[in-house]
Amino acid sequence: MAQAPVTTTIDQDFADRFAGSLAMHERARQVIPGGITHDGRFMKPFPPYIANAQGAYKWDVDGNRLIDYVMGHGSLLFGHNDPEILAAMQAQLTRGTHYGAGHELEVQWAEEVSRLVPSAEQVKFTGSGTESTLLAIRVARSYTERPTVLKLEGHFHGWNDYLLKGEKPPFESTSSPGIPREVMATIAVVPSDDLGMLEERLTQGDVAALILEPSGGSWATVPLIEGYLQAARDLATKYGVVLIFDEVITGFRWAPGGAQQRYGVTPDLTTLAKIVAGGMPGGAVAGKREIMEMLAFKDEPGWNAKRKVRHQGTYNASPVVSAAGTTCLRKAADPSVQAACDDLAARLRSGFNAAMVERGVAGYAWGESSVFHVKLGDTVPNQSGGDMRVPEGVSAEALKESAHGPQNALLRLGLMLEGVELFSSGGMTSVAHTTDDIDQTVESFGRVLDRMAAEGAFV
Ligand SMILES: Cc1ncc(COP(=O)(O)O)c(C=O)c1O
Repeated sequence: MAQAPVTTTIDQDFADRFAGSLAMHERARQVIPGGITHDGRFMKPFPPYIANAQGAYKWDVDGNRLIDYVMGHGSLLFGHNDPEILAAMQAQLTRGTHYGAGHELEVQWAEEVSRLVPSAEQVKFTGSGTESTLLAIRVARSYTERPTVLKLEGHFHGWNDYLLKGEKPPFESTSSPGIPREVMATIAVVPSDDLGMLEERLTQGDVAALILEPSGGSWATVPLIEGYLQAARDLATKYGVVLIFDEVITGFRWAPGGAQQRYGVTPDLTTLAKIVAGGMPGGAVAGKREIMEMLAFKDEPGWNAKRKVRHQGTYNASPVVSAAGTTCLRKAADPSVQAACDDLAARLRSGFNAAMVERGVAGYAWGESSVFHVKLGDTVPNQSGGDMRVPEGVSAEALKESAHGPQNALLRLGLMLEGVELFSSGGMTSVAHTTDDIDQTVESFGRVLDRMAAEGAFV
């Protein structure tokens, strides 16, 4: 029997099926700039608005079910509403949400971080990942009494004034709206694939800290070259620089002890958020006792006034967040958790690559651990139709921009119509996802490629 011709486009169908989100977006735009509360949620023609979530799924205001690969921006290793994390929070809710004082839950939470993360001799809690990286560089500057922080091109460390420099192409840009040039001048940026340039910059003697995402920029979007982490460790030690691993995404995801455990390279300080707080708002800086002691009050004359690093924060380690974080970390201590999530993501990456190769569609899916990214429209020599960690021959700039092509934008809408929500052009798996979810997603991906081809998206 002949198939009925396609009469509507992906764009038209999206506007139709997600009409409630469009209405919500129009309403939101009246009171929220651009209608979104995180730049990462920007999406054309409009983003979905969600009504509820459970496990691996979210339901939008129109009742569309979506297999969720955003997973709370990577914070939900156990999916939405994990019963144990929820029970811990519920038990705490009636006992008080803010003591304005220390409490046992924050001590337990710090003990769990310290138990799992190799570098974490001591832990200080913050309100978010952005606050964690801000605090870590302040501590490093104070400890070394040097002014400059060195970072890698394309690496994201939150939105504080210091660390946005060099995050997006053009990496060499020295200005950013709203950030004083004087602030930008205290941050040095080097390419992420050139150890020679890294060492050359360190020889100048002004660098307090080297901060990087141990997965490579933007959760393995721009993979690091082989051996980079160990070389960075050695160079940081050689030049007396504080090495900071930003494990806001990789912490408890790459391994129970994060990327530092997976790769066997221990930094001096580690910044954490997302999973550390069990999907609740919270973060932490952890590290060597000697450096973390910069945050402690001491009896030494002049220390508290002149040397101690200041750190406040109304919501640091609030009781409900501490309960969620502690319970989450106890669960994340079991390495079969990360292994299960890794297997699902590998299955997805392989499935996407096979679907592209089978159809002769230019593109590639890559990533590691439990994350994946996909790029349509370009080819790489190592596309084999299987799993891929590093897309060969693609510049860091191109990888960072990979989500932004028109084909990727259409793919995202097409997948939404199939009931699959990507996080930008990729996503993260959780314990709540099943192999069925992954296989359905791969089938959906194939159908969307076919539909895109029928719409002439690949010509
Ligand atoms: C590696 C990394 N560092 C820092 C941050 C900032 O964390 P937050 O959004 O909690 O401020 C993020 C957020 O995605 C991140 O991915």
